[in-house]
Amino acid sequence: MRVPSSSLARRLWLYSVISFTGLLGGCSFSDRQSVFDVAGPVSKTQYDVQNITLFVSLGIFLVVGSLLVYAAIRFRGPVDPPADAPLPPQTHGNPMLEAGLTLAALLLVVIMAIPTVRGIFRTYAAPQSEDAVVVNVTGYQWWWAFEYPDSKVVTANELRIPLGRPVILNLKAADVIHSFWVPKLAGKTDLIPNQHNQMWLEATEPGTYYGQCAEYCGTSHANMRFRVVTMYDQEFNAWLAQQKMAAATPTDPLARDGMDVFMKGPRVGQACATCHTIQGTPAMGLVGPNLTHFASRGTLGSGLLENNDQNVAQWLTALDATKPGNKMLLAHLSLSPEEVRALAAYLRTLR
Ligand code: CUA
Repeated sequence: MRVPSSSLARRLWLYSVISFTGLLGGCSFSDRQSVFDVAGPVSKTQYDVQNITLFVSLGIFLVVGSLLVYAAIRFRGPVDPPADAPLPPQTHGNPMLEAGLTLAALLLVVIMAIPTVRGIFRTYAAPQSEDAVVVNVTGYQWWWAFEYPDSKVVTANELRIPLGRPVILNLKAADVIHSFWVPKLAGKTDLIPNQHNQMWLEATEPGTYYGQCAEYCGTSHANMRFRVVTMYDQEFNAWLAQQKMAAATPTDPLARDGMDVFMKGPRVGQACATCHTIQGTPAMGLVGPNLTHFASRGTLGSGLLENNDQNVAQWLTALDATKPGNKMLLAHLSLSPEEVRALAAYLRTLR
């Protein structure tokens, strides 16, 4: 059966309205990962370039679209023209019009090119500043290591930066390609195995910014999140000094038991210490996140859960459900409820 064209047209119209409305539903100008609500010089430059391109394109669209609609209506012919209908007058070649269109196009390209090239130079090279902080970022399946080489501090999934100072990020990947993205602070840069990439960013407004791996990297790619937390200079230096210290040995008996489980494992060959480092203890593993000051971080599981007693216990019991594909292989660890309680108590002492 042939669908009448009017019904088909109506249906197409309906589908496009529905899908367009759906797309608009995803828009937000002030969401915590919105590129329209920028908070630093790098993202601001990128935002400006995006706007110029957007408005030039919008202008072209409006002019061309209106001319098209005008011509379609103004020069409309009969629906069923007679076979011997005369051709409309044929024109060809108009040097003024052609030269004018070429010049207009050239002008628009120049208008977009100048801020774009300037933006590339401004955002590409990190500013040569005494004030700059260097952080080495390593992407792992599926978490982030942040190392501050000048102060020998290593942390994970929570990047602390001083407010109003440039931060130079040296990016590399431990396994597959990842991509570092904090929408409010800077565009994406890939982390590639065996290649050194660099980017920089700066936050000019205090706050916590949400970051996300932006390159598909396996099962828990969507769970590879992180936070960027700004601090005032003095606060930042105090934080670095505190993070540099070794972990305190717990005095609470339950936490002491937890430390025991951590170092020796519930069974031989299953020690947490094999994969994690805790400064000042025998734990020196380099496979998982450094946990020296685990309890000082706002989240756990790479930005997945708020870092509190209940969630640490959940993490240790339902790891695969919480973060699918996780390499911690809890299925093989099978901790008893007492061991979970003790481990959680120990981890929460690591301030
Ligand atoms: Cu790492 Cu996607």
